Amino acid sequence: MINVAVCGANGKMGQEVIKAVNNAEDMALVARIDIKDGEFATIKDAKNSVKIDILIDFTQPKSIYENALYCLNNGINIVIGTTGLSDEQISELKSLSESQKLGCFIAPNFSTGAVLMMKFAQMASKYFDNAEIIELHHNQKKDAPSGTAVKTALMMSEENPDFTKGNCAEVETIEGARGAKSYNNIHIHSVRLPGYIASQEVIFGAGGQLLTIRHDSMNRECYMDGVLRAVRYVNENRRFVYGLDKIM
Ligand SMILES: NC(=O)c1ccc[n+]([C@@H]2O[C@H](COP(=O)([O-])OP(=O)(O)OC[C@H]3O[C@@H](n4cnc5c(N)ncnc54)[C@H](O)[C@@H]3O)[C@@H](O)[C@H]2O)c1
Repeated sequence: MINVAVCGANGKMGQEVIKAVNNAEDMALVARIDIKDGEFATIKDAKNSVKIDILIDFTQPKSIYENALYCLNNGINIVIGTTGLSDEQISELKSLSESQKLGCFIAPNFSTGAVLMMKFAQMASKYFDNAEIIELHHNQKKDAPSGTAVKTALMMSEENPDFTKGNCAEVETIEGARGAKSYNNIHIHSVRLPGYIASQEVIFGAGGQLLTIRHDSMNRECYMDGVLRAVRYVNENRRFVYGLDKIM
């Protein structure tokens, strides 16, 4: 049995993670940690009362670095879904995880389908010189384009040095009509509408053919398969991993 603690237990993701851990036959939920009305208010309180093998953190950007440092300095493996770690912080956590021989799994996107969509888009980029990304989210999302769209473009750009080839000279009569130009000329279009959760299409075009790779998140359950995979991976491999794609 893997003893799992959930930090951010009362949040939207935390609640879904608790359901998933409770349904996993090889895991036992040993602590629900949340600064607001948690069974334990801090990781330290929980550690003083129960044995934690792995802590899953879905809290907030301003807490995650301290939480991860605490875990790695106190013998607790950690799976991090919380976004907002800087590149410097990620490399500090990598060094600490290696020196302490503890697992630290960080994934900005735990949805297996979204990760596969990115990988498939990367594969297709070898064979197409024209592709555009359309990401579609609910209208309460503050940032645009989405981190997933940016990461997709980055992965595609690793396979192809220049996209949007052969287009005629373009004039935008309304600014922004052609979207944002990202890595290697890949255009990204951001749609914000109530009704969407998180979707993305990558459309490839070539003479006489179109290839569309699309992923839709219907609800937060889509992240749970990835979170549980990460817990199991860290339980068997006490090492640092950045990105769910590394274990798929
Ligand atoms: N990696 C992924 O696939 C993925 C998917 C969705 C969301 N996220 C990220 O997960 C995080 C949480 O998202 P959410 O929608 O559940 O947020 P939320 O605001 O609904 O929940 C956060 C919870 O964490 C608690 N909390 C905050 N600081 C804490 C601390 N120091 N110790 C203990 N508890 C603390 C809050 O009280 C709250 O209950 C965000 O950073 C979000 O971007 C990641």
